[in-house]
Amino acid sequence: MVMVTDLFERPIRDLRISVTDRCNFRCIYCMPREVFGPDHRFLPREQLLTFSEIATLARVFVARGVQKVRLTGGEPLLRKGMERLVEMLAAIAGVDDLTLTTNGSLLARKAQSLVDAGLDRVTVSLDAMDDETFMAMNDVGFPVAVVLEAIEVASACGLGPVKVNCVVQRGINEHAILDMARHFKGSGHIVRFIEYMDVGSTNGWRLDQVVPAAEIVAAIHKVFPLEPVPPNYPGEVANRFRYRDGSGEIGVIASVTQPFCGSCTRARISAEGMLYTCLFASSGTSLRDVMRTGGDVARVLDEVWEKREDRYSEDRSAHTPRLVVPVEMSYIGG
Ligand code: GTP
Ligand code: 5AD
Ligand code: SF4
Ligand code: SF4
Repeated sequence: MVMVTDLFERPIRDLRISVTDRCNFRCIYCMPREVFGPDHRFLPREQLLTFSEIATLARVFVARGVQKVRLTGGEPLLRKGMERLVEMLAAIAGVDDLTLTTNGSLLARKAQSLVDAGLDRVTVSLDAMDDETFMAMNDVGFPVAVVLEAIEVASACGLGPVKVNCVVQRGINEHAILDMARHFKGSGHIVRFIEYMDVGSTNGWRLDQVVPAAEIVAAIHKVFPLEPVPPNYPGEVANRFRYRDGSGEIGVIASVTQPFCGSCTRARISAEGMLYTCLFASSGTSLRDVMRTGGDVARVLDEVWEKREDRYSEDRSAHTPRLVVPVEMSYIGG
């Protein structure tokens, strides 16, 4: 294996692959309808990486030390034949953890075939327990019950423990913090509360819409006492807490108030094969074009990674106001 590290000595460990920029939800913090309306132009098919191109890229990354591969979107299960891609990635020696982040809408019917193909785990997004709030947030009237059902089916198929991602927005779903904690306590699933981030340029993010992770933990602790748990691995994104009564754990992802760039070993590939070295990047490198013109992908990756100096979240104040337009979350995959 070839080790490559960036300017802050960070290796590449995780690869996040977006397989489509489309989504059947219009979450207000991610794909606001005003921007992602009927006229929005998504990537045309021929621009997308094929499954075999994705597998080729994954092999290059694995040869550079990647152990975790996460499939994202948009909504990854909208892409046809995902089981085939999962099978191809699961077959790569060195991929220890193959996971998928989904909104859960299509998961119940696909969970078993994904497990059979070799998927290890899933993370499901869910922002509230009540339909009124959840429907207002996904903005397509999608009901909570279908997502809950998907979580149970996935778990029963062996894709658990399921992580449930909840993005918290001040004044929109703060009440969901306790609702979600209560519902999932004792279920074996792990809810992770995510601070609303200023990704992309369309969600109109303001700092006063962020509920700090410390406040989230305090709110839960008051009702269900918690204690901190050490990370599962160095550089884990979520800070873990367990219920003192032994009924499970929660996580908080404090990317705004306690950034974790120092240990960021994540590379991201968009559906059209652009390599981004930060969630907040405004430009990337087309590995697809390198591949399609017979170039040396490994060399290009090394050159990009060796020069990497991203630490956006730690540097946030230096970036406000922004001079360049960053890519959207639904495009880069979160
Ligand atoms: P596991 O620990 O393997 O389950 O994965 P994870 O913690 O990386 O979980 P996941 O991929 O679901 O990430 C959860 C959320 O954390 C993402 O959707 C983002 O909102 C946020 N996040 C993940 N990686 C980064 C990152 O590199 N930078 C920032 N700022 N946020 C991130
Ligand atoms: N801030 C924080 N998390 C976000 N996600 C999407 N947009 C944002 C944002 N602006 C989350 C989704 C999903 C994951 C991929 O990222 O809810 O769980
Ligand atoms: Fe779709 Fe996920 Fe974005 Fe919501 S957060 S619009 S489900 S990609
Ligand atoms: Fe990594 Fe960029 Fe997120 Fe920092 S802001 S943790 S460098 S992706």
